[in-house]
Amino acid sequence: MKPEDFTLLANLVRDQSGLVLTQEKIYLLESRLMPVARSFNLKTLEELVQIIRQRNDSQVVKAVVDAMTTNESLFFRDMKPFNQLKDLVLPRLMEKRQSTRRMRIWSAACSSGQEPYSIAMMLKEETRLSAGWKFDILATDLSLAMVERAKSGVYSQFEVQRGLPINYLVKYFKQDGDKWRIDSALRENIQFKTYNLLHDLSPLGQFDIVFCRNVLIYFDQPTKAKVLEAISKRMAPDGILYLGGAETVLGISDRFQPMPGERGLYTLTDLATGGTKSSPASPTASPAKPAPPPFPARTVGR
Ligand SMILES: C[S@@+](CC[C@H](N)C(=O)[O-])C[C@H]1O[C@@H](n2cnc3c(N)ncnc32)[C@H](O)[C@@H]1O
Repeated sequence: MKPEDFTLLANLVRDQSGLVLTQEKIYLLESRLMPVARSFNLKTLEELVQIIRQRNDSQVVKAVVDAMTTNESLFFRDMKPFNQLKDLVLPRLMEKRQSTRRMRIWSAACSSGQEPYSIAMMLKEETRLSAGWKFDILATDLSLAMVERAKSGVYSQFEVQRGLPINYLVKYFKQDGDKWRIDSALRENIQFKTYNLLHDLSPLGQFDIVFCRNVLIYFDQPTKAKVLEAISKRMAPDGILYLGGAETVLGISDRFQPMPGERGLYTLTDLATGGTKSSPASPTASPAKPAPPPFPARTVGR
């Protein structure tokens, strides 16, 4: 590929999605974009580049950007974040949401859906949830192909063998030929939609918990800072942000601070909240606070 063609494609992908492609990723660009070229009846990448240069066709641009996303995901990825959700984050926030009994959770780069479904399964399993609680889960991703896959809730044998406890497979999936289909009740609990983290996030509303895992890692520093700032504005003052194991806010954003002793979890700083979150029940401000009393078992969101 000619250097100027690589530069054009890399700039296009960065501007549209935030994803940074360095020269050493040229092989990735070629291997992923050849099928895109063929899908538009083009024989070479040069022809694809020419079309982008000449008419900036939005369908072609979308397909190029979609093909360059890395969609690796698995059920209960890293496990610890889901244990933290069950043992720490939910009890704390539920205590503070007793009056509304409602919580909104956002999986902000949901890929093929394993993350939001893991959250939904965990919520169903969580026996401390009391009657009348409603959990809304929004799952978004830039990639239309991934959102469609996530929505379908259909996984291969290989995918369900990665991270999913066998008892959850039995309980929440039905075999369908050589695939596994997730329980429709779980699917109905989640709203899926395509959404670009670089766009205005305000139409999405406010969230109590945000999972933004393993996506910032692909962005450059200014884009990470911009996205973190936009996410901070979409969070309740006492809301909690999850990042991936290789991601941090440190040195990037002054809107979030790490939750002491809880790797991967972040709360808003006073700068982000305008000083409104310093209630004694705030997760970081009350380490000595006893855990809320156990709630009777109940199906989630019903
Ligand atoms: C590696 S996956 C992470 C999936 C899941 N969060 C996890 O941790 O397993 C990264 C996802 O980020 C999505 N993505 C990349 N750029 C994005 C953007 N600008 N807006 C929204 N999603 C984006 C990709 O399409 C991809 O599905």
